[in-house]
Amino acid sequence: MTPRTAPSTLVRPAGAGIGGVGRALLAGLLVLVTGTHGAFAQAADTQTPSAAAVASAHPLATRAGHDILQAGGNAFDAAVAVGAMLAVVEPTGSGLGGGGFWLLHRAADGREIMLDGRERAPLDAHADMYLDTDGAVIPAASINGALASAIPGTPAALAHLASQYGRLPLARSLAPAIHAAREGFPVDAHYLQLARFRLEALRRSPAAAAIFLDQGDLPKEGYILRQPDLARALESIAGHGHAGFYAGPLAQDLVDGVRAAGGIWSLRDLAGYRVVEREPVRGEYRGIRITTAAPPSSGGIALVTMLNILAGYPLEDLAAPDRAHLVIEAMRRAYRDRAVYLGDPDFTEVPMEVLLSPAYAAGLRNAIRPDRATPSAMLPGVAADATGTDTTHFSILDRAGNRVAATLSINLPFGAAFMPPGTGILLNNEMDDFSIKPGVGNSYGLVGAQPNAIAPGKRPLSSMTPTFLDDGRRIAILGTPGGSRIITMVLLAALDFQRGAPPREWVGLRRYHHQYLPDVVSYEPGTFSADETAALAARGHTLEERTRPYGNMQAILWDRADNRVSAASDPRGGGTAETR
Ligand code: GLY
Repeated sequence: MTPRTAPSTLVRPAGAGIGGVGRALLAGLLVLVTGTHGAFAQAADTQTPSAAAVASAHPLATRAGHDILQAGGNAFDAAVAVGAMLAVVEPTGSGLGGGGFWLLHRAADGREIMLDGRERAPLDAHADMYLDTDGAVIPAASINGALASAIPGTPAALAHLASQYGRLPLARSLAPAIHAAREGFPVDAHYLQLARFRLEALRRSPAAAAIFLDQGDLPKEGYILRQPDLARALESIAGHGHAGFYAGPLAQDLVDGVRAAGGIWSLRDLAGYRVVEREPVRGEYRGIRITTAAPPSSGGIALVTMLNILAGYPLEDLAAPDRAHLVIEAMRRAYRDRAVYLGDPDFTEVPMEVLLSPAYAAGLRNAIRPDRATPSAMLPGVAADATGTDTTHFSILDRAGNRVAATLSINLPFGAAFMPPGTGILLNNEMDDFSIKPGVGNSYGLVGAQPNAIAPGKRPLSSMTPTFLDDGRRIAILGTPGGSRIITMVLLAALDFQRGAPPREWVGLRRYHHQYLPDVVSYEPGTFSADETAALAARGHTLEERTRPYGNMQAILWDRADNRVSAASDPRGGGTAETR
């Protein structure tokens, strides 16, 4: 395929022979590379699904996706409509002030890419920007307010999806979101729970409080939330594409608002933002082809590492605690590597080939004792870093077989809880996904190091893991929000897919998680029986039952053998999955 316009770069896999400095230069300088597209091409699909499917975290977003499909759009147009609608009706999780990763499969030629619309650090950012003169972390500076926000990527990605992959004009696909922003929608219990969590921070931003609160207080359930400034911002993008956000009056208002509130954005930051087309990470697990997120997400590498380790065990023949023990040990090792090696591939040399190789995983497997947990302190690594918890995911399959798995975020619920006046754009606090000081965990307790240190124009490491699974007969499209736990949720779903379970089981699975540090297995109520908990504790695992369930997985399955499409939305959330 040949892109028609230029607001993107196309980048080969990280670690594929060009040095980090060279890649940084490439990312900064290359506007478009067309000559390498063929390297990614797969075969065209020969079969088409019997139905289209959309699964998202909000009924209005699922409906917008189907409406656009019915209007003649393809899965990529529907992804624009769903992503924009979620920006309006699920402002807690994603939005025009944030970023994300869109994993795409185009049926006509089998082309698969990951659209990287991850936020970038402003050009005036520096490694110590959240430390005081004594080197101590300034509390909440990377979490609340204008200084916490990186340069958004979602508007650029929506324009790119429409111009490069869609069939409909951008304005058509944005129309449902513009309508919803202007006319309003009733807020639900999920919104209110998260607004309560971020109430004090929202109150500190008058523009954000005027929109998301009712005269400074929590609204009541069913309160109609109208966002006229956001409608105008969406119209600016509908009318001018990429430039409607990154140049002109909206860009000026964004920069003015951020700077007046102590932030460091400049018009140069916005003018320089580009989405990047990256080759997805690929792996194989027991005949399943895995296509998943590339750096700057850590998700794909960690997912494939865990599956490579687990491929050496007959998991299906093991008793539940034996199986869980091995899965936990695989999680521990993959998250340790995440902390030590991973960061923005345009700035740091990511040893992808090694980390993804089955031989490397075999070495990790050899060090796993079947009878004992390995204390994380015994694995050479770094002290404690993390990624956001709210976020959103949607999955789409159209009747032609085009697929989208997209995970989008503004990081914490309501992002930085800061809105530049007059813009309607709630900004992310994705700067907190950097390692702001080696050894200091971020809001989610993940650890990081130099590869994920802050630098001007750099993208913070993410855990978002939009994924396709294909065992030759069945194709899955899936992902979830959930911060550092995203990757282990996708792992558990992939293991369930492998044993033949349907999507409603993947999304409903009881979940457990280990992320190297803290050295704790956290799990949802009901995941383990008392005997299983005791058996894991006897091996030396520290277990911590969470008070609340987590995750909001959205999944689609296309079984090509009987040409049936099914979809499921996580019962923990208020989303919907519909096939038509
Ligand atoms: N902010 C969530 C993530 O990127 O993992």
